[in-house]
Amino acid sequence: KRLSLCFIIVVIALTTSYVADAFTRNDFPDDFLFGAASSAYQWEGAVDEDGRTPSVWDTFAHSHNTISGDGDITSDGYHKYKEDVKLMAKMGLESFRFSISWSRLIPNGRGLINPKGLLFYKNLIKELKSHGIEPQVTLYHYDHPQSLEDEYGGWLNRKIIEDFTAFADVCFREFGEDVKLWTTINEATIFALGSYCQGISPPGRCSPNEFVNCSAGNSSTEPYIVGHNILLAHASASRLYQLKYKNKQRGSIGISIYAFGFSPYTNSKDDEIATQRAKTFFFGWLLKPLVFGDYPDEMKKTVGSRLPVFTKEESEQVKGSSEFVGVIHYTTFYVTNRPSPTFFPMIEGFFEDMGVYMIAAGNSSFFVWEATPWGLEGILEYIKDNYNNPPIYILENGKPMNSNSTLQDTERIDYIEGYIGAVLNAIKNGSDTKGYFVWSMIDMYELLSGYTTNFGLYHVNFSDPGKLSLISLLLKPLVFGDYPDEM
Ligand code: NOJ
Repeated sequence: KRLSLCFIIVVIALTTSYVADAFTRNDFPDDFLFGAASSAYQWEGAVDEDGRTPSVWDTFAHSHNTISGDGDITSDGYHKYKEDVKLMAKMGLESFRFSISWSRLIPNGRGLINPKGLLFYKNLIKELKSHGIEPQVTLYHYDHPQSLEDEYGGWLNRKIIEDFTAFADVCFREFGEDVKLWTTINEATIFALGSYCQGISPPGRCSPNEFVNCSAGNSSTEPYIVGHNILLAHASASRLYQLKYKNKQRGSIGISIYAFGFSPYTNSKDDEIATQRAKTFFFGWLLKPLVFGDYPDEMKKTVGSRLPVFTKEESEQVKGSSEFVGVIHYTTFYVTNRPSPTFFPMIEGFFEDMGVYMIAAGNSSFFVWEATPWGLEGILEYIKDNYNNPPIYILENGKPMNSNSTLQDTERIDYIEGYIGAVLNAIKNGSDTKGYFVWSMIDMYELLSGYTTNFGLYHVNFSDPGKLSLISLLLKPLVFGDYPDEM
């Protein structure tokens, strides 16, 4: 038996400074979704079982000593999904966000479907549905097949658009009866920067001068090429869904972006302008084309010929192709008008273009983000006001614990409670936010820090991976007003 569950009563003090009033599920619209998230490479394990081939993340994790460990086994969702779904149900989750491993479903990247991969996802979806949990499926969470990287250089090459669309087609056809919420690409902004500027995720490209050990690239050009290809691939998959499946399946499809909050460091005019510029770059890079069909003017001016240009057809294809915006948010930065980099020396190319200096809020460090619910509220307001008030799902928000104990989980309770309160405030102010997902549903392999940080609402004891030892029952009382019956 995998679990020895020890339920721990988490006393929730509804006294945080941010949220004035306690809230319950009834304060949110009926169709609002409370969920928790995962991703294939981080949750599934079983990396060489049943026909799965290596993804770029397998290669990266095995060859980079900057990260502790790999996703070979992790929390073993591939074998233990039924137990995990039970845990979700116990917690009262209404939705589970997971991604599909491209190399498990289509091991060569294109062509033949792996029947065992197909069966795994069908079973997972069936299990979720039978527990009344809505699947929220991400098609791409950083892990394309290594074969496509070797063959043509992955996202740097437009060939990926066709392959990604064909992969998406299989997913829509096979799972679309039961899946009503599709995210094409995970946190597209930070993916382009982290992988092609910062070098901290595969294929680990950045300028040779960066501090991490990376393969050479051109950190001030490649993220823009990748960003462009991501938009085109997203739009192509999304249009396919809209034309071929939507009428019958009645789902909705969007993309997700990484969203730092940005706030002026001082009340000077300069810092205010710098903050606007940071928002224009960070949000507008993808949202402007998705909503209005082109990059922001300010970006075009600054980035010049390094920024790809949309043809008329591309612009039309991209514009309106995201039916909702997935927001991934962890913290906020204070922005000041200093032309040189930055808190993030490693995202240097992009932030140089942005021309701002960022100061992390409070006690944030590389991996422990300060809770800034007001920052998320500001983002939701900003997207509402500047991008035609699209439907929004908060697809990730969470705080890692740096220890093996979830007994004293008050910091995370405050963090999550504050953020849910921020979402409620934003909704009251007219934002069309439709869901909130905690990262992550259970402890799993963390992309940048391996097993040294635990984000999970359920804790896994990785030194004895067969055991899931403690449980932090957070959402149930917080959201539904009471502890699980079993307790
Ligand atoms: C963003 C990514 O989508 C996810 O894979 C990662 O584990 C979390 N943020 C936490 O860093």
